[in-house]
Amino acid sequence: MSKISLKDGLKKVGRLFMSKKEQTKRNFPTLEGHPSALQHAQEAVESHKDLTHKIKATRKEFQIYRWSPDNPSQKPYLKSYFVDLSTCGPMVLDALQKIKAEEDSSLSYRRSCREGICGSCSMNIDGTNTVACLKPIDTDTRKPTMITPLPHMYVIKDLVVDLTNFYEQYKSIEPWLKRKRPPPEDGREYRQTPAERARLDGKYECILCACCTTSCPSYWWNPEEFLGPAALIQAYRWVCDSRDDYADERVTALTENEKRLYRCRTIKNCTATCPKSLNPAGAINKMKARHLLSKPVELNEHKP
Ligand code: SF4
Ligand code: SF4
Ligand code: FES
Repeated sequence: MSKISLKDGLKKVGRLFMSKKEQTKRNFPTLEGHPSALQHAQEAVESHKDLTHKIKATRKEFQIYRWSPDNPSQKPYLKSYFVDLSTCGPMVLDALQKIKAEEDSSLSYRRSCREGICGSCSMNIDGTNTVACLKPIDTDTRKPTMITPLPHMYVIKDLVVDLTNFYEQYKSIEPWLKRKRPPPEDGREYRQTPAERARLDGKYECILCACCTTSCPSYWWNPEEFLGPAALIQAYRWVCDSRDDYADERVTALTENEKRLYRCRTIKNCTATCPKSLNPAGAINKMKARHLLSKPVELNEHKP
């Protein structure tokens, strides 16, 4: 008995020093004496191994936050999905679409334009708020990509959060043109000079995705009173508009209650996370300056 064990042990040690080719050869004892067939069989095994390795290298794990109101007693959890990146588009939204279409139709998230215009697909991807359609998939398949809802928001289902308060706050800044002067006599549109139009740059591009507002610690603690960076950059867009006649009233409305504007502590999380590369913190600072100095300041700022 001990002799057999010793023999087996020696065989095992011997196998460790065998070349890969020799090990493969051992799998085809019936082909011994048929060198060409053996070579083909060995090549087939090698290419299969290579293919398996490559397929493994293109399979990416996505850990996605799941919670459903249909099962309220179940706590939220992260569910893993594996996506073959060689058959998937390049953005995180493409992976979500593929998972929903091919694997799990119950996965819920918002999306519409798939090109960074509608602001629907905002979520937290690997710790950063962004829109999924503008976020390239991290192709390092050794680590998973984690996707969770926008932070500090009530979850309706999976990645869908309740934006009611966010839109109410947007509505409160009266985001439409308000005039005191009469319309142009020729009945045409309200015109601007190129310089007046340029003041809107860096503000009108805001897509109301809420990435900035939900990354703001001041907003996390005061979501009822502080308007948050998205509503404030939108307010500033109208304050800057030469066609609007209510800039002073707009600033007054924002500062009557000091928490609406001045709860901003200039931490700049908002500017760091904006997927459109806007600068809401800069807009808020200009608004504060305008209020404090009670005179217009140079408004055409750009994110550095
Ligand atoms: S700069 Fe102001 S609005 Fe932006 S994250 Fe900081 S506190 Fe919030
Ligand atoms: S400022 Fe940027 S992050 Fe904030 S709502 Fe607009 S586009 Fe989204
Ligand atoms: S789907 Fe419209 S911004 Fe992403």
